[in-house]
Order: sequence, then structure tokens, then C-alpha cells
Amino acid sequence: MKIVIKNIAELIQTEESPRKWVAGKDMSHINTIKDAFVEVENGIITLFGSMEDWAGIEDWNNTEIIDAEGGMVFPTYCDSHTHLVFAASREGEFVDRINGLSYAEIAQRGGGILNSAEKLQKTSEDILFEDALARLNKLIEMGTGAIEIKSGYGLTLDAELKMLRVIKRLKENTDVTIKATFLGAHALPIEYKDNKEGYMNLIINKMLPIVAKEGLADYVDIFCEDEYFTVEDTKNLLTAANKLGIPSKTHVNQFNAIGGIKASVDLGALSVDHLEEMVEEDYEALKGSNCMPTALPSCSFFLGIPYSPAVKMINKGLPIALASDYNPGSTPSGNMNFVASLGCIQLKMTPEQVINATTINTAYAMGIEKELGSICVGKKANLFITKPISSYAYLPYSFGEKLISKVMINGKLQ
Ligand code: NIG
Ligand code: FE
Repeated sequence: MKIVIKNIAELIQTEESPRKWVAGKDMSHINTIKDAFVEVENGIITLFGSMEDWAGIEDWNNTEIIDAEGGMVFPTYCDSHTHLVFAASREGEFVDRINGLSYAEIAQRGGGILNSAEKLQKTSEDILFEDALARLNKLIEMGTGAIEIKSGYGLTLDAELKMLRVIKRLKENTDVTIKATFLGAHALPIEYKDNKEGYMNLIINKMLPIVAKEGLADYVDIFCEDEYFTVEDTKNLLTAANKLGIPSKTHVNQFNAIGGIKASVDLGALSVDHLEEMVEEDYEALKGSNCMPTALPSCSFFLGIPYSPAVKMINKGLPIALASDYNPGSTPSGNMNFVASLGCIQLKMTPEQVINATTINTAYAMGIEKELGSICVGKKANLFITKPISSYAYLPYSFGEKLISKVMINGKLQ
């Protein structure tokens, strides 16, 4: 049955046909329609326009009508970078940081990613699945309609496969669009403390072929950073993944600019993520590429590290995406409304730039720009209805307030 959402004060981020991404000056613009409607059939957007045009278009018998009651309708957020599957929170480390320890010092004491890995290895697949599904359902309520989820808290063949199977089960048990990323190269396990070559060998020659054979990953990832994995490791992993037909998304430039961006771009990465520390060569490497620079402002907020120079990237004509980085260590929040607020408040992006960065551009960073990221005929009907608000800028402005009244995923109200 057809569904029509009527009485929409403003329909946000409409598109006549799907674009690849939005970059540079174009990021300052979004298309909207005031006093609008959207029609949905079989989970797909089939028509939209102004309420004036609605009367008499067709016979609306046999149509379910949803009244937006003067709220606005946005496409749901696409969150292109998360670590949603984890076994336990890490607020002990949060308190350690308040008391003066740094993220690096905590990691050196066996905390950080290794702490999460130890707990995940001991947790059953069923519990990991139930917990992650509960987290996902909360994110849907906050307006997320597509999400990328990484492994990387396993760090053994069995535990990495366990995480990826959990992500597979999530894909099968939700209407939200999910992409899975294999992040075996997240940290060096203690057993390999003095043998990084051995661990890279395990990842490239044992884990990756099994992951590929079982079809468990859409992407591969690596934490390219001092004390974690080198540019050389990054090149080796991405080259091996390319041979297996798996594209990459990488963690680069979080604490140091060591050349991970150029290596990732040269090997065809779909996105490079974090980008808190940028040098001129990094911008140069991104120019003219097909790689989406992705900032994670909630991570900067939580760790108290610099924010990514997003406006500088936009001024250089580049696109930028904003994602959450939801994980128990550096970003214990997947709230994309908060990401949007930080985009405006800390990254100094305009509301239009932030809307582009959290919808169309994150859709590109997940390889789903043809099916999600805007209100466009033929795209999936993943959208949210807000309470009545005075303008779309009110959404990032009113940080922390719950403004979403209804969420529709694949044409179904949640
Ligand atoms: O993206 N930087 C690497 N990985 C995660 C944090 C992982 C953790 O602390 O558990 C991130 O911030
Ligand atoms: Fe991350």
C-alpha cells in the first residue's frame, strides 16, 4: 500500500537524481521544499513535492496517510564509521583520563583497544549480538538509518570472525542498511608485542582470505598511527585486500600525520577517517581523488584532542563527511544529532554543510549513495519526522534536545 506523509513544514535534502557526493562550495547549499509531501511505496520514495501540487495528482484511495503535523522531514543520517559491536564500556579509563592519564598512556598500560579485546574474546556471540542490536535500536530512534560497523576488538582469528558474524546477524535482523568492515589491524595483541610482522602476516595471509571467502566484510580498515600500524603495513594490507576485491576505509591522522592518507588514496580507499592532524601533503593527496575525507568530531570532543580542519578542506574544494566513531574507548556515543551540532559549533561548518556531510557524503563513504542519503525518487524511504521546529538550523542549534518524533526505515514506521 502507498503511504503519503503530508503537512511537512519543510522537506530537507531533496534531489532530482542521485549525486556522487557534495564538495567544496556546493556543500553550502541544500535543496528543500516548504509545505511538502512525500509518497512511499514498497519501501521506496516514489514522489515528493509541495502540498499545493498534491491535490488532484492521483487517486489517494487505498493510501495510508501520515500527518507530519508541521514537523520537518529529513533523510535519516548515514553513520559511515562505528565500532558498534563491543563487550563492555570503559568508563574506568574515562575516570583515569580525568585524573590526568592520556589515551596513549592508558593504552601503554594494557588498557584501550586491548582492554576491549580481552573482554570481547570472553563474550559469547549471542550476547554481543543482543547488546549491539539494543544499541542499534537506540540509534534508529535518534535518526540513524544506515550504519557501518567495524570488527577490531577481536584481534584473534576466532574473535574477529565472531565480531563479523555478529555484524552479519545484525544485517539480517534489522531494516537499517549495514556495511561491515574488517579491522583486524586495530592494535597489536600482547602475544605479538615484539612481532608485528607476525601479526600482519596472520591478518593478510590467514584472516583476510577467510573473511573474504565467507563474504563477511564489505571493507577493510587499519589504524595507521605511531605505536599502532605503519604506512608500510597499510600499503601491504590494502594491496592484499584489493587483490581479493575488498575496498578499504582507513583510520589515519588521529594523533600524527605520517602519510597514511596518501597511501590510502593511492590504493583506492573509499574514505580516510579521523583527520585531526593534517599537513599540506594530505590535502594534496585528497585533491582529485575518489576518497571521502571523514571527520569524527565526537571523538575529539570526548578525548579533548584537536578537531579536524573541516572548513579548510571545504575551502580547498574537497568534500567532507561527518560520522560518529561510536566505540567504548574514544567515543561512547552514536548520536548523529550531536555530531551535527559539533560540526557547527566546533568545526564551524554551516547547517547546510553539516546536513550534506551527515547524509549524502556519509552515504558515499559507505558505497550506498545511489540508495540512501537524500530524499530522491527511487531511493529507500529512510527518513525522520521532527517535532515542529522554526528552521532546519534549529536541529544542530538545539544540541542535546530530542527533536525527532517518528523514524521511517524502508517505508516502515519504527
Ligand atoms: O576510532 N583510533 C582507533 N580506534 C578507535 C578507538 C578505539 C578504542 O579506543 O577502543 C577510534 O577512535
Ligand atoms: Fe574508529
